[in-house]
Amino acid sequence: MVMTLPSHISIKDKHLWINGCDAVELAFKYGTPLYVTDEDRIRANFHGYKKALSARYPSIRILYAAKANGNPAILKILAQEGAGADVFSSGELTIALQAGMKPEHLLFNGSSKTEADHRLAVEKGVKVSLDSIDELMQLDRIAGEAGKVVEVSFRVNPAIDVPTHPKIATGLATSKFGIPAVAITEAYAQALACKNVVPVGIHCHIGSQILSVEPFAKEAQVLMEVVAELHKIGVKFKFVDLGGGLGVCYEHLGGPAPAFDAYADAVMPEITATFTRLGISPEIWIEPGRSMVCDSTILLTKVNSVKKAHKTFVNVDAGFNTLIRPAMYESYHEVIVANRAGEKPEGTYTITGPICETGDILAHDRELPAVQAGDLIALLDAGAYGYSMASQYNGRGRCAEVLVKRDKSALMRRAETLEDLLAAVVSPPWL
Ligand code: LLP
Repeated sequence: MVMTLPSHISIKDKHLWINGCDAVELAFKYGTPLYVTDEDRIRANFHGYKKALSARYPSIRILYAAKANGNPAILKILAQEGAGADVFSSGELTIALQAGMKPEHLLFNGSSKTEADHRLAVEKGVKVSLDSIDELMQLDRIAGEAGKVVEVSFRVNPAIDVPTHPKIATGLATSKFGIPAVAITEAYAQALACKNVVPVGIHCHIGSQILSVEPFAKEAQVLMEVVAELHKIGVKFKFVDLGGGLGVCYEHLGGPAPAFDAYADAVMPEITATFTRLGISPEIWIEPGRSMVCDSTILLTKVNSVKKAHKTFVNVDAGFNTLIRPAMYESYHEVIVANRAGEKPEGTYTITGPICETGDILAHDRELPAVQAGDLIALLDAGAYGYSMASQYNGRGRCAEVLVKRDKSALMRRAETLEDLLAAVVSPPWL
């Protein structure tokens, strides 16, 4: 079967191309491992969501989930398009503001925020999604000390089981996130009684890499029941935040992931009907991460050696320090030999990294052209939770990231050096 490639990835003269750039030349110019991101694809993904949702409801805001890929250049691209961001730490908040996103277009999420996180949100005028009554009390005190009033939402736990990897289902009754729907009215009543916070929204997130739209429809239904309850006790909604977006299709032989229109069709009817019934018109927010950036990026990694043992191992220079998803979630990423693209498969290869762990495998048993030392492997769909989850394990600096715009390319993050690895190290005086 032939792999179907997205429109920005192509094969010319046996080389893999990303938009107008030859991947083999990029690897030569910038070194490997190397994340390469296509700018146009991110803009197109943003517009896909925006168009589908705006066609069904006038007030839509897309808050990019910065955790998926926090490179400031990517946040800048999305800020230019008018996106806000779901930020999960003071670091993500600061990067989003520096990228040009407006404070009122950010939501500070998280189930374990520090006092310093709350103080920064108050100082910058960023809305906060609260995850517990403890957080409500802390934020009320901190806002009071600063003489400010902060707009907040609570994250509701809808107790919805979703078809995804158990580590990334976030709205189960047993998940650490959110306040159970049965306790949410009481939480909002307490917030309404506070002096320095005002509840203006509601937030929910059911999980990631969900490939059917039904769970999102179910989520919308639970959320609308809660909104109707909260409307009765006097909450004046400025936003309803549906959380993360669609999953993506990592296997390019399978069927396509649901389209943005299918997502919008699944969630919007329930929402618009409830809003009309209640006579309210808050903004609808969504927080897509994966589906905004995943397919924009390939990871290029050089073959150090090939070894025939009980299997044929292709030892490359990227490991789970570079892309942890296969090791952590048994995730699948398509593999293409970038300098032999389109050649007939000659054997079965397992792609392994340089890390001192048996689990350091990027791809199992793939049919590929005859791979040799010096070849260049591309892993597709590496833009979400790739670099952002990379580590310095085994004393290896994180790799570089390059942005491509048609036939232009430029670094958006250089590779870390040995000096970077040691930059934060302090020697205890007795050593
Ligand atoms: N909003 C909240 C509150 C979230 O927790 C997340 C993801 C998102 C939005 C974005 O969801 P998305 O549109 O990307 O599905 N590291 C895992 C994924 C963890 C997702 C965590 N939360 C992976 O590599 O698959």
